[in-house]
Amino acid sequence: MERAYHRFLKEVLIDEATLQARVEVLGKQISLDYADSSDLLLVCILKGGVMFLTDLMRWIDVPHEIDFMAAKSYGHGVRAASGNVRIEMDVTAPIARRDVLVVEDIIDSGHTLHFVMQTLLARQPRTLRLCTLLDKVSRREVPLQSDYVGFEIENKFVFGYGLDLDERFRNLPFIGVVDETVLSS
Ligand code: IMP
Ligand code: MG
Repeated sequence: MERAYHRFLKEVLIDEATLQARVEVLGKQISLDYADSSDLLLVCILKGGVMFLTDLMRWIDVPHEIDFMAAKSYGHGVRAASGNVRIEMDVTAPIARRDVLVVEDIIDSGHTLHFVMQTLLARQPRTLRLCTLLDKVSRREVPLQSDYVGFEIENKFVFGYGLDLDERFRNLPFIGVVDETVLSS
């Protein structure tokens, strides 16, 4: 059957089984690292982090709470700065004295997450760490290191498994590379 996403898909970068296996490993590692935590809060960054969060939390056997935050960055490029990021939706949960783990789909320049981490840090969590599914390390413009990384990937525009192509195809169970020739035509 011809699916709507087929013409945008150049190749599957990470298939469903590989994704699920990695998410299991990450979830089990997080469970070990937070085994002694009595107040773990997972903060999912909308919208891209949603599918990763819901799969990841199934493997986290430490009692925890979840919350959501949305951030948008403007003016990407060489002059992009953290000041160009805005919190569009904030968490409702208190942050102070809690073990906060931010769950994100992808880090590119790092501006968005840098701002989000600074914002959360100012609220004085007990600990603050970052877990990203994908990391485009070569694209970094600000110093930002993720504590947990699913996959380091090259500088290609990807979609699926939470990541969108013009707000669509977030539901795909795999990560695909966008066929740029279709986009520009
Ligand atoms: P950063 O501030 O440059 O790190 O931007 C990160 C944000 O850009 C992510 O949260 C995504 O929303 C978006 N983004 C970056 N690369 C991709 C991609 O390859 N596919 C889809 N969204 C992306
Ligand atoms: Mg995102």
